[in-house]
Amino acid sequence: MMKSILKVTLTSAMILCCSISSFAADITIKITKQYLNFPISQKTDRKIMKFEMGGKEVREFKIRLASGEPEYWVFSDMTAYRGKTIKISYDGDAAGLSKIYQDDKIAGQDSLYQEKNRPQFHFTTKRGWINDPNGLVFYEGEYHLFYQHNPYEREWENMSWGHAVSKDLVHWEELPVALHPDKVGTMFSGSAVIDYDNTSGFGKPGKPAMVALYTADNPDREVQCVAYSLDKGRTFTKYNDGKPVIDSKEKWNSRDTRDPRVFWYKPGKHWVMALNERDGHSIYTSANLKEWKYESHTSGFWECPDLFELAVDGDQNNKKWVMYGASNTYMIGSFDGKTFKPESGKHYFSSGSIYAAQTYNNIPESDGRRIQIGWGRVPQQGMAFNNMMLLPTELTLKKTKDGIRLYSLPVKEVSQLFTPAQKWTDLKSDDANEKLKEFYNADRLRIKTTIKLSHATEAGFNLFGQRLVGYDLNFNMLNGMFYSPQDPTSMELTADIYVDRTSVEVFIDGGAYSYSMERKPDLNNKEGFHFWGNNIEVKNLEVFTAKSIWK
Ligand code: FRU
Repeated sequence: MMKSILKVTLTSAMILCCSISSFAADITIKITKQYLNFPISQKTDRKIMKFEMGGKEVREFKIRLASGEPEYWVFSDMTAYRGKTIKISYDGDAAGLSKIYQDDKIAGQDSLYQEKNRPQFHFTTKRGWINDPNGLVFYEGEYHLFYQHNPYEREWENMSWGHAVSKDLVHWEELPVALHPDKVGTMFSGSAVIDYDNTSGFGKPGKPAMVALYTADNPDREVQCVAYSLDKGRTFTKYNDGKPVIDSKEKWNSRDTRDPRVFWYKPGKHWVMALNERDGHSIYTSANLKEWKYESHTSGFWECPDLFELAVDGDQNNKKWVMYGASNTYMIGSFDGKTFKPESGKHYFSSGSIYAAQTYNNIPESDGRRIQIGWGRVPQQGMAFNNMMLLPTELTLKKTKDGIRLYSLPVKEVSQLFTPAQKWTDLKSDDANEKLKEFYNADRLRIKTTIKLSHATEAGFNLFGQRLVGYDLNFNMLNGMFYSPQDPTSMELTADIYVDRTSVEVFIDGGAYSYSMERKPDLNNKEGFHFWGNNIEVKNLEVFTAKSIWK
């Protein structure tokens, strides 16, 4: 299946074979090019591969090396080892070893970002698997997006921190893997801060350290560790050789202690870590990012904590704290630097494919936004990469009829990608369906619409039979979740719909609720875009074409 997408340069493979001396299950290569390319087959069992340099092991991971025809190729950026000789050993079928080749291009480079199912305005990794966003931090004009990553396969394994940077939250440049697994464990989720006051001592004069706090996961336990970078996240040094700064398995009688989310607590002039431990989020504090003191615990959350303060309706004199977990369900409350006191919740503001979302640290005060990126659990069928990041959104707190609630909308930078194409008002649904015919086959676009129900209990909007919007005013269900508009007597619903090649994101009523899904057209359905529901009015309908974020 992958052959049409990944054109392997056999010539360079063969040239390189000649400079590889192959014995049984190891080969020795002098690294002269940027990448090592590996042939992969999902039909092969995972086996252990090791890189050794000067008799010392420098990397170990599991890989399904193809001994026959590869289904796809993955790569490792070897810039750090240029000029060095490494021994690669593999405890599986040695036949695949001879196919590994080095090159200044990754296999499939020429069709990179143009693959059939490559999302065009969502971040995806070049090759391999991604899950949670990690270490979201803005620093010197760059938004950093680290992420859970298996560089060697399109499925979850070998957790590492992948890395990409952007100047505008829209166009991303993927950089080499930032954190590789080590003897303490694989690199699970975490966060990153800029240590301006050099509290950790990792910085140099005029060069504050970017400090990453991550979980190292091993079969026995999950521990919290620290790494720092003095070159804007390009390379990291593991503090104390990756040994833990927090090991709380015994305290909690649980190995589920993970995903440190750290930020600077200005009023108390100390660091705060929200850490998921067993059944909720604990708070730890620190003066130097190395020694941590347990302070408190809020039950009711699983994985990937976040905790931040937001002004209600922009009122700087009325601020509340928000705590959420991996599902994005949240509590609103107060926080004194040591204890989070819930006042309301749990609530939800987004659902569907979103998981493990994190918000940015270190957004300049002059900007002041709380920007979130969520993992989009969207399978990328038949591709050498898998999953994606959802559009970055700005989170705000608003007073609503139900109390204070989180809203989320794509950040303003996203709008540069969309060009108005058509706009109509006050249409009958049949007319609207007719007008949208010219957009049936668009692989990506944005549609904004307001529908009004009168004769129907249910109405909505489909794309080739897939329900993008399905609103039931009787049970107040919107695509499977309870939703009640601000004016409960309102029969209107506004949906801002972002359709990419493999996903759909929907923002309802100015961000009061949002959801996302894999794009899954019913191949037998010929309807294209289709409003449905008895006698509904399409009060507004706007179509935007969508640019690609990839060059
Ligand atoms: C959430 C999660 C985290 C963990 C990571 C491992 O998706 O399970 O709790 O750190 O993924 O990849």
